[in-house]
Amino acid sequence: MHGLFVLKQEQGFAGTAGKKRKARGIATSDVTMSAHTADNSIVFPQILALHVKKGAVVADITYGLGVFWRNVSKSDYQLLASDLKLGQCWKRLPYDDNSVDAVVFDPPYMEGLYRKTRQALAGSGSHESFQKAYSSGITTPAKAERKYHDAVLETYLSVLTEVKRILKPSGKFIVKCQDEVSANRQKLTHIELVWAYEHQMFYCKDVFVVVRKNAPIISRLLQQKHARKNHSYFLVFERQDHRKKIDYTNFSDWLRGND
Ligand SMILES: C[S@@+](CC[C@H](N)C(=O)[O-])C[C@H]1O[C@@H](n2cnc3c(N)ncnc32)[C@H](O)[C@@H]1O
Repeated sequence: MHGLFVLKQEQGFAGTAGKKRKARGIATSDVTMSAHTADNSIVFPQILALHVKKGAVVADITYGLGVFWRNVSKSDYQLLASDLKLGQCWKRLPYDDNSVDAVVFDPPYMEGLYRKTRQALAGSGSHESFQKAYSSGITTPAKAERKYHDAVLETYLSVLTEVKRILKPSGKFIVKCQDEVSANRQKLTHIELVWAYEHQMFYCKDVFVVVRKNAPIISRLLQQKHARKNHSYFLVFERQDHRKKIDYTNFSDWLRGND
């Protein structure tokens, strides 16, 4: 019954059982869509417009070249830009506790960017501009505990302590990620992150799929075993650890064996 009520509200019907229903809202196709064949710089402003109030303090902790912000008006948000390249590590951010309304996190997303030697880092040599845009170019310490895809996941989890320190309750945590095939195994990073962050009381409120406009050129292809990834995700999480229980779960209790 509760679910039905919520559905009617979203569809714009007001009124309680037994009373005449009155349709509200307007008919329009001008809505924010979940999938886009476009650049990050086109999709990101739409995510902000839908999920972050104008005037909010937004900490982009992997600002990089600032591509996400190219089409965002400077007067719309109070942007706090940081990046290892600018001298700040996401594990020690120069912001006060409980001081930001949203955090944006777009770390190096593929295992090839977490190698122990410079020669092995993805984008070395002729693909240097790729490395410049997507990583700090710093190698993973030889003693690092997690390797390959797990090193990517560890990065996404390692930032949570600092995010929880600076983000206000109900604040938004906007995370960019991409699935990958690592050691010939399918790794659905976006699902792993939704699951892992949920355990930390971040509710995954929205998902955006970004499809690349151009086709990648593959050198040295022997035999294709998996579809080549040409899409990535923006996941929009809401911090809910100030509540006893998060509102919704993206994994049914039945699947979790809790039912
Ligand atoms: C995928 S790029 C981000 C691109 C950015 N969103 C943009 O719009 O240009 C990843 C960024 O993470 C940064 N980075 C890597 N390790 C970091 C760390 N420990 N702390 C802060 N930034 C880091 C890199 O310098 C790089 O700029």
